[in-house]
Formats: sequence, structure tokens, C-alpha cells
Amino acid sequence: MRTTSILNTLAVASLVAAAPLNHRHHLHKRDAKVVVVTQTIVVDGSGNTVDSGSPTSTIEASSSAAVTISTKSTSSTETSSTAEASSTEEASSSTESAEVSSTSSSSSSASTKTSSSSSSISGDLSDFSDPTEKFEDGTIKCSDFPSGNGVVPLEWLGFGGWASVMNENGDTSSSCEDGYYCSYACQAGMSKTQWPSEQPSNGISVGGLYCKDGYLYKSNSDSDYLCSWGKETAKAVSEVDDVIAICRTDYPGSENMCVPTQLDAGSSAPLSVVDEDSYYQWQGKKTSTQYYVNNKGVSVEDGCIWGDDSGTVGNWAPLVVGAGYTNGNTYLSLIPNPNNSDAPNYSVKIVATDGSSMNGDCTYIDGVFSGDTTDGCTVTVTSGSAKIVFY
Ligand SMILES: *[C@@H]1O[C@H](CO)[C@@H](O)[C@H](O)[C@H]1NC(C)=O
Ligand SMILES: *[C@@H]1O[C@H](CO)[C@@H](O)[C@H](O)[C@H]1NC(C)=O
Repeated sequence: MRTTSILNTLAVASLVAAAPLNHRHHLHKRDAKVVVVTQTIVVDGSGNTVDSGSPTSTIEASSSAAVTISTKSTSSTETSSTAEASSTEEASSSTESAEVSSTSSSSSSASTKTSSSSSSISGDLSDFSDPTEKFEDGTIKCSDFPSGNGVVPLEWLGFGGWASVMNENGDTSSSCEDGYYCSYACQAGMSKTQWPSEQPSNGISVGGLYCKDGYLYKSNSDSDYLCSWGKETAKAVSEVDDVIAICRTDYPGSENMCVPTQLDAGSSAPLSVVDEDSYYQWQGKKTSTQYYVNNKGVSVEDGCIWGDDSGTVGNWAPLVVGAGYTNGNTYLSLIPNPNNSDAPNYSVKIVATDGSSMNGDCTYIDGVFSGDTTDGCTVTVTSGSAKIVFY
């Protein structure tokens, strides 16, 4: 298994002006590390730059006029490991919060489960209805996967349904064993609630249930349930004729982009908009959701994996989507993947739903981002909700 790390920092200025600062760090144990820093530029209603935030600056937008936000990214390659993740983070100011990525789910069943409910990854709950059965510590064996109440198995990964199995040293295992955190996926729109508040000091993150003496235990007692819904402010809508595998990073955890949202042709699915003020924080900084979005026609089993440079799936997917909520606003971003600058075989637009308020213009049409930048774009939903439409 690989260790990737994706961080994106959300800097929030006052009032209308809020600015995501995204630092995404992707680590691969053997490969050179690619560090992606996504900066945000705040523009006023006339299109003038109010402040272009370097990763180290505080973004403050003074104008109370219409503010739009666009995202700018730079990348560099490094050969060492984890440490620098914290350096850029630390350089950032105190008004800034960090953002990271991870779960969400749904998709079709894997090879072993051919029968029934076609897609076990679509989960057992209807959208935004809460789980009902509390998770009981010490009652389920580590060798059993706790499906249901929003938890979905990822059979294609080969870890017994788990998204990843990792300990605090970053060691991985292909089955859930004593001394390991067994990270799991939740259905589309939900996020896992489990991670230890004491995280490893080496900068990696761990999350999931803890396996002890052969049984599973919550690693976080703040929630009685393993999955929770985020804000009801964003969904993915398909106007294309084939499936799109939208793959969230398993975070905190391995950060592999294995947590599926299967967007079937012509359908819609909730996106997980985590409330960053209460969700997992990385070294004191807020984290958001990150999805790798594959070309249409790629199944979740083929696309929600750690890919390689021979293909265009997983971390080589042609688009990254970010989502998060803080201080009353929802931020949605379309972010280029430096590993794949080819146009996906669909276009994307973010549109406000009826009666909602949204600042910014964010589209990715025929491989070109709105504003004609190579940097991606962000919208701020100040009330109501927005749709990310694939067409
Ligand atoms: C690009 O691929 C490398 C592996 O060579 C990986 O470490 C990195 O995370 C990928 N970048 C993104 C943005 O996914
Ligand atoms: C879109 O791209 C995927 C991945 O390369 C491919 O499998 C699929 O056939 C393509 N579909 C269309 C309509 O171009």
C-alpha cells in the first residue's frame, strides 16, 4: 500500500471573503513526492485581484462587494518524506485552516458479492437519513467487516472490505489485525467518524476502528455511529451517458482515493461536505473532502484505486474536486490534477440550485477551466446548495 497525503488548507477571511488555500501533499513511499500547493486568489466584483495569497500569507478581502474566488496551483517535486507537509502548513497564518480529504461512497458490488442489492457500496441509508444502530465496542471481530448504518465494504481492494489497515508507524496490513486502525468507507455523502484524537507525531494520519484482542473498538467516542452526514449543500449530477467514479481519499488514513461515489448515468449523488469546524483536523488545521474524478466509463472498481502512470485512474484521474464547509459557507472547487492535464471526457459546471446564493464562476469545459487558467476554480455557496454537473 502507498502512503499519500493530501492536504488542502482553507484560509478564511472575514465576511464574504473567504479563501481556500489548498496544500495537497501526495506521498508515495518509493516515488518522488509531488507536492501540490493550491493557492487562492480573491477577486472583487470587477475582477480585480484583492489579494493573491501565497501559501504563506493570510488572505483578507476587504471589499464587501461581490467576491469571487479562483484557485491557483503550483507543484514541485521533492524526494524526501513527510516533513515538509508541515512546513508549508506552519508558514500559513492563524486565520487559516487546513483541509484534507477522504471518504464518501457508493458503487457496485465487487466480484465476491454477485447477488442481490447490486451495489453494496450504495449503502443502506437513504440520503440524509441517520443511522439507527449504535456501534458497540468489543462485539465485532476484526475479521468481520461492520457493513450497514452507512458503512460500505470495498471488496475490490482486497482488505476484507476495509479501505485501509494501518498502524501509527505507517505499517499496513491486508487484513484488520491487533494494533491496527482499520479504516472504512461510508456511503456517498457520509464521512467516517472514527480516528484517534492522538495522531502520530510523524505527520501521517490514522483513522478507523481500532483492533484489539481480536475485536473492533471505536477510536473516537464523540460519535455512537461510524458514519455521519455532512452539510446538505452539494451534490454531483450526471447528464452524461455513462458511469463516473468519484473517488474520495481515505482520510484520515491511507489517503488512497478508494472511497467511492458511483455517479450513474443521468443520476445524482450527495457529495460529502464536511463541517470543517468539527471534522478531523490535521495538526490543528481544518480539513475538507477531496475526490479524484475519473473519466466517464471507468467503474469504481477500476477507478477508485491508487493508479499508476500507465493509466488515467485514481491519482491519475483527470480532475480533483474539493468540498468543505466552514464559518457558514460551503466551498466547492474544481482542481487540476498535475498528474493528468488531459481533458476528461465530459465537461463540468458548478451551478447554484434554485433559491441559493453562490459566489464565483467555476466550470471545466473541454479541459479548460473558467477564467482560462490552469489553476482550477472555487465557488462559495453562502446559502442553499449547489450542484456539480457533469455533462
Ligand atoms: C501523482 O503521482 C504520484 C506518484 O508518482 C503520486 O505520489 C501523487 O500523489 C500523484 N499526484 C496527485 C495530485 O494525485
Ligand atoms: C472515456 O474515457 C474512458 C477512460 O479512458 C474510456 O474507457 C471511455 O470509453 C471514454 N468514453 C468516451 C465516450 O469517450
